[in-house]
Amino acid sequence: MAFFPFNKANAPMSTAKPLPAHIHSTGSLPKVAWAKGSYVYDADGKRYIDGSGGPAVYCIGHSNTEVNDAIKHQLDRIAHGYRYNFSSDALEELTEIIRARCGGTLKHMVYVTGGSEAVESCLKLALQYHAARGEMSRRRFIARERSWHGNTLGALSVSGFLERKKAFEGSLLDVSRLSPANVYRPVPGATAETAGEACAKELEDEIIRVGPERICAFIFEPVVGAAGGCVPAPPGYAMRVRDICDRYGVIMISDEVMSGAGRCGTWRALEADGVEPDIMAVAKGLAAGYLPLGAAIYNDKVADAIHGAHGAPMTGHTFTGHTACCAAGVAVQKIVKREKLIERVAANEGKLKAMIAEALAGVEAVGDIRGRGYFIATELVADRATRKPFDASHKLFMRVRQQAFDNGLICYPVGGNVDGINGDVVILAPPYNASDAELTEIVDKMAASVKQVLKETGLG
Ligand SMILES: Cc1ncc(COP(=O)(O)O)c(C=O)c1O
Repeated sequence: MAFFPFNKANAPMSTAKPLPAHIHSTGSLPKVAWAKGSYVYDADGKRYIDGSGGPAVYCIGHSNTEVNDAIKHQLDRIAHGYRYNFSSDALEELTEIIRARCGGTLKHMVYVTGGSEAVESCLKLALQYHAARGEMSRRRFIARERSWHGNTLGALSVSGFLERKKAFEGSLLDVSRLSPANVYRPVPGATAETAGEACAKELEDEIIRVGPERICAFIFEPVVGAAGGCVPAPPGYAMRVRDICDRYGVIMISDEVMSGAGRCGTWRALEADGVEPDIMAVAKGLAAGYLPLGAAIYNDKVADAIHGAHGAPMTGHTFTGHTACCAAGVAVQKIVKREKLIERVAANEGKLKAMIAEALAGVEAVGDIRGRGYFIATELVADRATRKPFDASHKLFMRVRQQAFDNGLICYPVGGNVDGINGDVVILAPPYNASDAELTEIVDKMAASVKQVLKETGLG
């Protein structure tokens, strides 16, 4: 979870209790001891229900015996066969599983150990694709504001997340940046209905402005996670983006690190939009946090060019295709399939939203409840009619995170979703296999924490 600098000069004017020092550092956090299913216990014996799977990672809950046994079995044979020497059963099985889940022409992958590496590989695959075709002028990326793609320099460059980038400005790639596509907060001049088209047009205008021969790829999150708070692409938007990318020879990259692997009720998040990207990043839910694993998945078009000209992708790392990590991914994905967990997530989306709405009924500060599958956010606003956010100085999202934690709930509040500074959103991303009673506990504790904070700060 990211921690944000706290500026004493901006301290809230309210009489709310001060935030504990450890909210800004990892120095004095409680020690985690053990976990089972949806519950985590710290070293003092305090129990927390995991309402967000940490940062939308632990999608089948904790300490699953079947996954642990599969990892142990792999470790007893070999932990890691180096990618230039060996393939493995685990790697090949995982590749088949992902191919079947993706369908279409997304058949090729570079395995990595996390989301940033996955995005980094996506960017490099796109660059290599154009290089393989002799189009070395296509070097520029287009990305969106209010997006998060990761902490490595390339991934950070394409991210639109002010707080997390500030310290590194000056060393980042020069990237074209577009408005976020958000029906709750449409771009000026657009309505909820026209927001998608307006944002797609912005993409086309920017390609034409820069010159298509200079554009490498457009990268976006189909459902924006930490930077926006579960903001799904407006209806029709992804399809228009697909058309525009095809028209101008631009590679379409879907960052599904947070929203993919079933989190949104389909294995690929863009499946719901009826769109196949050229390249896609997946990580968090792939091995559900049992071991670090991610992948950059690319289609036949990209593979044909790269494999034809260079033989293989020029990206990857020492731990690419790490055998035990792949074994963890296989075990997790088998459970997700066998227990029909993605079907469960899709079927329960409406119920989860309704539960949140009911638990927060009458709370004036609730502006929007949105998202897909088990990736649902509540946006808190100072004025429901105008959608004006609370001033960032209140640190509302941080207070909710702390209050929830005190109440024994792990959730994922984020800030700055409106303009990079202001905005407060609380994300819930429960394990796909959380029981109905656990879902109720998660929602009730989240709503109680939000109400407590609003009351204490005098904001609602
Ligand atoms: C959409 C998205 N892309 C990339 C990343 C980076 O992933 P990681 O933190 O595993 O490097 C994240 C992390 O939150 C993410 O949400």
